[in-house]
Amino acid sequence: MTPPRKYLFLILLLLALFSSYNYIIYTDTSAYGAVRLSGKAVQGEKLWLDNNCHSCHQIYGLGGYLGPDLTNVYSFRKRDDKFLKSMFNSGIKAMPQFDFNETEKEELLQFLIEIDQTGQYPNTKAQIEADGWVKIENQNKTHE
Ligand code: HEC
Repeated sequence: MTPPRKYLFLILLLLALFSSYNYIIYTDTSAYGAVRLSGKAVQGEKLWLDNNCHSCHQIYGLGGYLGPDLTNVYSFRKRDDKFLKSMFNSGIKAMPQFDFNETEKEELLQFLIEIDQTGQYPNTKAQIEADGWVKIENQNKTHE
């Protein structure tokens, strides 16, 4: 028994609506400030992952805990470019000695610069209310 034509039309209509709805949701970047890493920073991120920086360092609190969180290392802690670039190859204390060339150091630095621009960690404006919900004041401010 074949279903009547009107059902076929209804199913196609629902499929079209579902696809349009998904398209709109997945291409709308306004909700999270449209953070996009530049090509250079993406190279830096690759170096970051390939060299396991995240096994000792955190970004937004995620990662290993042997080294400090580096989310805002660029601005928050007032490190300049020279300091950070020399840090990558320094081998100070528990930080292993790497052998990055100048381009790679620039890329890693660019990654840290752009990560820093995405927001602040820890969010000092966040408050935990009595009922357990986290209230964030000026939530969109950090993405401007
Ligand atoms: C084995 C653990 C480990 C790995 C892997 C590691 N680090 Fe570190 N890193 C540390 C430690 C520990 C410190 C703090 C050193 C100190 O106290 O002076 C540090 C410090 C730093 C600092 C300076 C932070 C500051 O505020 O002074 C930067 C920048 C940094 N690391 C970047 C990197 C990058 C980029 C990578 C990957 C290429 C990396 N680290 C891999 C352990 C690590």
